[in-house]
Amino acid sequence: MKDFKGRTAVITGAGNGFGAEFAKEAARREMKLVLVDIEPGSAEKTLTSCKKMGAEGIALTYDVSLEENVQEMVKIAIDTFGTIDLLINNAGICMSGRIWELPTQDWRWTVDINLMSQIYGMHEVIPIMLKQGTPCHIVNVASVAGTIAYPNTGPYNATKHAAVLTSETAQIDLQLAQANIGISVYCPGFVQTTLHHSQERRPERFKINDDPYYSSESYKVAIESINQFIETGTPIDSVGMLIFQAIEEEQFYILTHPIYNALIGGRIQDMLSGKNPDITRFG
Ligand SMILES: NC(=O)c1ccc[n+]([C@@H]2O[C@H](COP(=O)([O-])OP(=O)(O)OC[C@H]3O[C@@H](n4cnc5c(N)ncnc54)[C@H](O)[C@@H]3O)[C@@H](O)[C@H]2O)c1
Repeated sequence: MKDFKGRTAVITGAGNGFGAEFAKEAARREMKLVLVDIEPGSAEKTLTSCKKMGAEGIALTYDVSLEENVQEMVKIAIDTFGTIDLLINNAGICMSGRIWELPTQDWRWTVDINLMSQIYGMHEVIPIMLKQGTPCHIVNVASVAGTIAYPNTGPYNATKHAAVLTSETAQIDLQLAQANIGISVYCPGFVQTTLHHSQERRPERFKINDDPYYSSESYKVAIESINQFIETGTPIDSVGMLIFQAIEEEQFYILTHPIYNALIGGRIQDMLSGKNPDITRFG
């Protein structure tokens, strides 16, 4: 996909962080915007900034971890603008905690938003793009956690690995179908966003219950560690431009933190040589 002007971008998690940056870059490229976020008012705030740049768009407050909401989002996008040319499946959360301590409801929450929302998006939008026949693109936001097994973040690692694999499968299936749809999977390391505020985006059906984990020292340590990783991450500037350049160049894997390359390669080498996972990998 090389022409963006006048075409429609649907961006989930557009109220903060990466999503807001993608929306601004789409606005710069004169796209029509459908911005979606669970946090009330946040997609509207991004849209206001985009409108100041001359963009046309709508903002929706939806929880995209629910299939019916994704269906509704897609219907509204088509009813409003007639096409969907770019889908950025970006909304996500990160909860950390050891596998035997983190409540299983946090696994279900993470699977629903980090993985299922992307599957719902592709399931709804790809048939529309196929029918359009024009060059289209889908970006699934995964993470470098989709290429390695970082300690303490089981659900995040699992869903991000799954996001990479569903993206790869989509790419292959679309090639076999000779479709005019490009796919990219974005796998950044830590970047300064609001990801450490994921707790505030917890849907009602996963609300904190009386599980003792939420008042434990382990929980406190997990929250502090994610705060530290995100606050000391790389600055977010130029992320929007970088992703749109990757779309133009039909780049599938978008890896932006070469510091992890040795870990990624080491993991594959260990698998091939039968070497066990080892904490010394992380230095
Ligand atoms: N920041 C990082 O270091 C980093 C690294 C790798 C990958 N990522 C990924 O980038 C993506 C964007 O995260 P970010 O870092 O910009 O964080 P962020 O918290 O700033 O943005 C995520 C947005 O998604 C929204 N969201 C959360 N749950 C939602 C739901 N159920 N429905 C709709 N919207 C929902 C949030 O309200 C928020 O606006 C995520 O998928 C995240 O896993 C982030």
